Amino acid sequence: MQVVILKDAAEVAAYGAKIFIEQVKANPASVLGLATGSSPIELYKRVIDANKAGEVSFKDVTTFNLDEYLGLDGDHPQSYRYFMNEQLFNHIDIDKANTFVPDGSAKDPIASCAEYEQKIAAKGGVDVQLLGIGTNGHIGFNEPSSSLASRTRVKTLTQATIDANSRFFAEDEFQPNLSITMGIGSIMEAKKVVLIATGEGKADAIKDTVEGPLSARCPASVLQMHEKAIIICDEAAASKLEDKEFYQYIEQQNDKLLADYYGA
Ligand code: F6R
Repeated sequence: MQVVILKDAAEVAAYGAKIFIEQVKANPASVLGLATGSSPIELYKRVIDANKAGEVSFKDVTTFNLDEYLGLDGDHPQSYRYFMNEQLFNHIDIDKANTFVPDGSAKDPIASCAEYEQKIAAKGGVDVQLLGIGTNGHIGFNEPSSSLASRTRVKTLTQATIDANSRFFAEDEFQPNLSITMGIGSIMEAKKVVLIATGEGKADAIKDTVEGPLSARCPASVLQMHEKAIIICDEAAASKLEDKEFYQYIEQQNDKLLADYYGA
């Protein structure tokens, strides 16, 4: 597990965006796993800027989003499909036919979960998966107690998650308490996982994720078992890590080794 601690949210966004931009530059037909929520918005802005500047093209990229509210169709302003169109897809040269978000209006949600898994497999799996993290340690909508081997499925949201996301819904608006989410087992199959977290509110979840124990109580702690997981957080989100100085030391050593190697 690589833990990168940066000054603030802007640095986290820039660092995270660079990983995705470099991935697509290296493999223009990459398969990217994407997330919604507040955390990735700045990262997506940087990706858009890079695309507009001609630094990188997404025309052959395929994307799979982590999750969607069950009961909202893609035109609903609070749906994650709508969010992705607004925050990213409408502003880059991606073919929308290659962007996949679980279908919140599926007539047979259970069958649509299996189909989603098949689509990911047919594309050869996710190359790089972006994750945010809930204050309770959830990834996707895999709430605490989710099986660490779970696949894409219908999942009940905790009251804490419903409350946290109520800021996006009007007072009298229907807010779903069910979702379709990629499972933890599905997420773990991505070749690389990039989790971003900012702000003090995420400090406990980051501590549990990085320093354990490995437990379904904090779903993100499963990333300790991933060969290529990068946790990128700002000082505030990293503030409860016991071995913070050690993670910073490793990063300095990595930079130094690279500089020595490339003679920079
Ligand atoms: C969103 C998702 C969620 C969020 C998490 C953090 O697709 O899967 O796990 O990443 O709830 O949300 P924010 O970034 O709004 O704090």
